[in-house]
Amino acid sequence: MSVWAVLAAAGSGERLGEGRPKAFAPLGGLPLLAESLERLERSEWIEGIVIAAPPGWEEPTILLAEEIGAGKVSVCVPGGSSRSRSVSLALDEVPAGASVVLVHDAARPLLPDEVIERVLAPLSAGWDGAVPVLAVTDTIKRVRGDAVVETLPRAELVVAQTPQAFVAAVLRGALAGGAEASDCASLVEAAGGRVRAVPGDPRLLKVTTRADLELVSSWR
Ligand code: C5P
Repeated sequence: MSVWAVLAAAGSGERLGEGRPKAFAPLGGLPLLAESLERLERSEWIEGIVIAAPPGWEEPTILLAEEIGAGKVSVCVPGGSSRSRSVSLALDEVPAGASVVLVHDAARPLLPDEVIERVLAPLSAGWDGAVPVLAVTDTIKRVRGDAVVETLPRAELVVAQTPQAFVAAVLRGALAGGAEASDCASLVEAAGGRVRAVPGDPRLLKVTTRADLELVSSWR
């Protein structure tokens, strides 16, 4: 199994209020992006890495990869206007020989190697993809404006995280038509792919606000 990673780091991160892209918000003296990049670099599962950087930040991204010794990074592409577009642009640079692609959000810096292992395992058992999930603890309601439309059955609901792993050809096919979604698994599901849910990890919190950044920093 030849596994390549796509690191989606092209978001603007306006909600963080740093005045620079989220991937370059400081975490422990280095840009946030460095943390997940180092972990992908160290993982024995990963053969190569393609980064989707914030447009205009390709050079600092490459310099950062060099600084931390991330020699698996083959290319850094400018990201697109949406996450799906950024992943698609990066995927175009993943070699044809890669059989599996692991897609990860740079906004989730604390990437445990066990989760990489957990999402890769189902692909050897015939699944098209795998996504780490956490149980939902709050009750989830669908609303339209202020009106509650329905309350969803909580036992069936989970929160989806990254890294998500896919058979490379399946992911390429799901993204081919320019489809958009907030994660890759939903595009693979919509294309008829079989996606396995595996246990996620609370440390994979997605940094959105300053409070998230402080929390993640305290968990390092
Ligand atoms: O915006 P959100 O936090 O959901 O983004 C999830 C991940 O997708 C982040 O790591 C972000 O950098 C990435 N992203 C991207 N290109 C975009 C928007 C988001 O690579 N246009």
